[in-house]
Amino acid sequence: MRHLLGIKYISESDIHSIFQTADNFKDVINRPIKKVPSLRDTTIANLFFENSTRTRISFELAEKRLSADVVNFSASSSSVKKGETLLDTVNNILAMKVDMVVMRHPNPGAHVFLSKHIDAQIINAGDGTHEHPTQALLDCFSLREKFGEFKGLKVAIVGDITHSRVALSNIFALQKLGAKVRVCGPPTLIPKHIGSLGVEVSYDLKDTLRWADAVNMLRIQLERQDIAYFPSLREYSQLYGLDKEILDSLKKDLVILHPGPINRGVEITSEVADSEQAIILDQVENGVAVRMAVLYLLAGAK
Ligand code: CP
Repeated sequence: MRHLLGIKYISESDIHSIFQTADNFKDVINRPIKKVPSLRDTTIANLFFENSTRTRISFELAEKRLSADVVNFSASSSSVKKGETLLDTVNNILAMKVDMVVMRHPNPGAHVFLSKHIDAQIINAGDGTHEHPTQALLDCFSLREKFGEFKGLKVAIVGDITHSRVALSNIFALQKLGAKVRVCGPPTLIPKHIGSLGVEVSYDLKDTLRWADAVNMLRIQLERQDIAYFPSLREYSQLYGLDKEILDSLKKDLVILHPGPINRGVEITSEVADSEQAIILDQVENGVAVRMAVLYLLAGAK
């Protein structure tokens, strides 16, 4: 594996290698000295053409914990605003002797395009509505901590499936690992042919939660919606929001994930997001170890 362009392109054994490496790095980042010299001779550029809090900080921390040299680029304050193309931007940065590129871009496939035109190794930090591979890896790593294994595990993904790169990467990762996946949301926010990926489809939240061992609650991505997919956020929340009353009625320890950012009171109430059953901050903590593992293994592959 030279790049990490998507979960679609990696195998079950690649995922297990990443998890085993992340186990070691999780120990490292919980030590008083959180740094190892593994990437001391590597320069990494974090290119963010879309907003990010978690992914960007998590990658930067992972790179610094591995002793890499790091440069950060944000499209909103760059010469992209003056009309520079993606390829020109990246080639100019690479001319400064960069070895690896971590990129978030609004266009699905931007990373595949780039991988055909540049020499540096590329890690996809989210490409539009397509894939967000490191998010799926950290979600599955967090489920592995809770459940131990994936065979027969039932995971529901609820919300705006149509616009979610987290959903697609999670579907690929969970299925490769042997879990069963069900997507749930309003019919307008579930792609028509998603069943062809081998997932179950439901429009009934309570039935889905009764079925699931774990649920990944997704945000409604209003910034990607150019038409109204449902009447109002209030109605969405009444039909697909997870609150304490629903959670208590299940009478089981459903594990709750959320990739963030959370819209409290829409897809999940504060009471649920902050409850014992939510592993949202574990996901964030695990993100650093998982990204260290990805960077370390890719650097080794080179
Ligand atoms: N989960 C995630 O990708 O969050 P950010 O958009 O803040 O990076």
